[in-house]
Amino acid sequence: MTSTTELLLPPSRIAPPMTAPALRWGILGPGWIAARFAEALRHHTSQRITAVASRNAQRGSAFAADWGIASVHGNYDDLVASPEVDVVYVATPHTSHFEHAKLALEAGKHVVVEKPLALDAQQARAIAELARSKNLFAMEAMWSAFLPKFDVIDQILTQGMLGEIGTVLADHGEHFDTDHRIYDPSLAGGPLLDLGTYVVYFAQKALGRPTAVTAVGQQANSQLNGQISAILTSATGAHAVLNTTILADTPNLAAVCGSSGMLTTEGVFYRPGNFTVSLRDGRSARFVDDISGYPAGLAYEAAEAARRITSDELESPCHTMVDTISTLETLDELRRLLGIDFPS
Ligand SMILES: NC(=O)c1ccc[n+]([C@@H]2O[C@H](COP(=O)([O-])OP(=O)(O)OC[C@H]3O[C@@H](n4cnc5c(N)ncnc54)[C@H](OP(=O)(O)O)[C@@H]3O)[C@@H](O)[C@H]2O)c1
Repeated sequence: MTSTTELLLPPSRIAPPMTAPALRWGILGPGWIAARFAEALRHHTSQRITAVASRNAQRGSAFAADWGIASVHGNYDDLVASPEVDVVYVATPHTSHFEHAKLALEAGKHVVVEKPLALDAQQARAIAELARSKNLFAMEAMWSAFLPKFDVIDQILTQGMLGEIGTVLADHGEHFDTDHRIYDPSLAGGPLLDLGTYVVYFAQKALGRPTAVTAVGQQANSQLNGQISAILTSATGAHAVLNTTILADTPNLAAVCGSSGMLTTEGVFYRPGNFTVSLRDGRSARFVDDISGYPAGLAYEAAEAARRITSDELESPCHTMVDTISTLETLDELRRLLGIDFPS
């Protein structure tokens, strides 16, 4: 007769976003994600948005009216110079992240920059160095990294609950209409830097930096890559099998599989959501998330930044600059392998 004990998952250590000290945020680039971020701050945190900057006065004013923001700036320079702003959230397209992160840091402001932090690892290193030299906080808004779900996954991996990890699977595919910015090569379009950031981030969370990368690509059109399937091999010989595409909706699932068991997500892996751990000894446990996707999930990254900035820390340990740079190094390698060139 065998007796099995119940499988218990570690509890999340992430405090509710509402409890983070309130900072004054300036939003740079009031587009799609900026609206969700503003909604997250307004309804799910005690953070204050004191300013927004747009290149278009009408768009800036409409955004300010929607989210009760007192100051609207008609250019980005004025926002970063504002004494009413503690931290700048950069929500412009990837091609501008480097320039706008630098703009904010040089004006003495802490920064939270949408993913990907920059176009490549070299730009990311320069942002990290600038922030450090100015004693300012910098963080990539890889929102998954700050969610309670990912804190529990982190602990499961650190505790070795799954045994030796041999395989990671992750896909992130979303069908976009061709008028979306993701189809614009001059905005570094294609899946690589947008959706691909998530699958590479997830693979490296489980397996660390790869020692070898292979990939095949499919064009969306003559100017733009549309799909990438990649295998990242780790130092232990483990494989991360990844897919990212802008040509079709895919299940967006992920799994981490080891010698003792596996973790499988339900629904979109990089958002809040449930997952199951099933061990080879028959035990299993389900993580049931009490957060839904946008906008509530975005509150965690803002709360994390506010906590770290208030305690004079320059980075978040949940997602360090080294993590960000190392993801971008792999994205650089995929870009090199597939000959993906972004017109400057
Ligand atoms: N965390 C997430 O889940 C998530 C989801 C979607 C996107 N993102 C990231 O967020 C960033 C923005 O994406 P989005 O979908 O929000 O883009 P979007 O809707 O096109 O908004 C981008 C904003 O940036 C400003 N901008 C500055 N320079 C620009 C340029 N050369 N071309 C176009 N817009 C420019 C525009 O604001 P003004 O003209 O008004 O100044 C525009 O509203 C991307 O890097 C993306 O990867 C993250």
